[in-house]
Amino acid sequence: MEANRTRALLVFGTRPEAIKMCPLVNELKSRPQEFETRVCVTGQHREMLDQVLRVFDVVPDYDLNIMKQGQTLFDITCAVLQSFKNVLEEERPDIVLVHGDTTTSFAAALACFYLHIPVGHVEAGLRTHNLQSPWPEEFNRQAVDAVCEYHFAPTETSAQNLLNEGKPANRVFITGNTGIDALKTTVRDDYDHEALEWAHDSRLILITAHRRENLGEPMHRMFRAIRRVMDEHPDVKAIYPVHMNPLVREAAHAELDGCNRLRLIEPLEALDFHNFLARCYLVLTDSGGIQEEAPGLGKPVLVMRDTTERPEGIKAGTLRLVGTDEDAIYQSFNDLLNNDDVYGEMARANNPYGDGHACSRIAEILRGNHELAF
Ligand code: UD1
Ligand code: UDP
Repeated sequence: MEANRTRALLVFGTRPEAIKMCPLVNELKSRPQEFETRVCVTGQHREMLDQVLRVFDVVPDYDLNIMKQGQTLFDITCAVLQSFKNVLEEERPDIVLVHGDTTTSFAAALACFYLHIPVGHVEAGLRTHNLQSPWPEEFNRQAVDAVCEYHFAPTETSAQNLLNEGKPANRVFITGNTGIDALKTTVRDDYDHEALEWAHDSRLILITAHRRENLGEPMHRMFRAIRRVMDEHPDVKAIYPVHMNPLVREAAHAELDGCNRLRLIEPLEALDFHNFLARCYLVLTDSGGIQEEAPGLGKPVLVMRDTTERPEGIKAGTLRLVGTDEDAIYQSFNDLLNNDDVYGEMARANNPYGDGHACSRIAEILRGNHELAF
């Protein structure tokens, strides 16, 4: 039996990767006769990663602990490439699993390529086809897909993107998104929190922002638009768990401090954030993962970006791309608050991202049971 086990090494480093990879870690660990499962975290994020590891009870076998304040893409790429090489040489896994589009995933996949170790890409095939937006994520995900053996595409659209690029059809599998697996375990009817109590008499707006291409003036414009709308709507309260990037924090405090119906708080644990999402009225964000979580919960999302690799949520009617222009965000946000028809159109629960069984499908595919993908 021992000889038949697949030696799988999962590597991730940031909050969203952890939220979508921890359910897979736990799935593989629940099959000890099929998999020998090892976990390496790069620590590209520190506090925000540790929050997720706690919620899912995952204890890494390796922690590269690379995070530096204000780290550059050079810092992350070089540190991961060099330190992950040592882990790969020690472990010599049958397969390395990486997620999505972070620099951790890109550098880890590159290290595997250099050592001829097969890679499986979880959440493969998302594309904007614009290397500048999101930057550097569009490059990262294309580069991972260029070297990997298994493409676990969350949706038909992402699978089609890969086929259009000439990836072999027998290496592309539609599994659903593992983020939906996570959501299924975190959202609870009886959930409560002091901040939700504070907002219970109002429509609650949930805000997040962090994209590198939005740092600086675009982010200031986003926050100024939000401030204007908040000032004009006394029946609305907002909660904004601020990303730990110091540049995001500076912009958020500069534009949003002093508005007593808008609370800037520390990043929420995934369990809390998912339940806030389930209770809020609408979301303003530039996040990727939230664009997948909100459609299933029927929460309208104004996406403060120029492009999205999640067209399924736009098609479902839940997401609207509003860019980063101050007036455009102001108008769309106002419209959604003032017009019940517009709101009603967007607030229909429709989840295009899977049925919450993506992890077991990935496990079966890794064991050679390919027909189990949808
Ligand atoms: C990273 C990913 C991005 C992903 C995002 C999720 C890259 C290039 N970027 O962007 O794709 O969408 O994570 O949030 O891979 N910090 C802390 N503590 C933490 C986390 C971050 O202090 O727990 C601060 C540090 O100063 C760090 C900075 O935030 O240097 C930026 O973190 P970094 O991972 O480089 O970029 P993100 O914008 O978080
Ligand atoms: N999230 C969280 N706490 C927060 C804000 C977000 O747990 O305070 C979760 C959210 O539910 C989603 C993920 O973090 O699963 C999104 O992460 P982020 O926006 O940082 O990255 P992206 O998805 O854009 O890569």
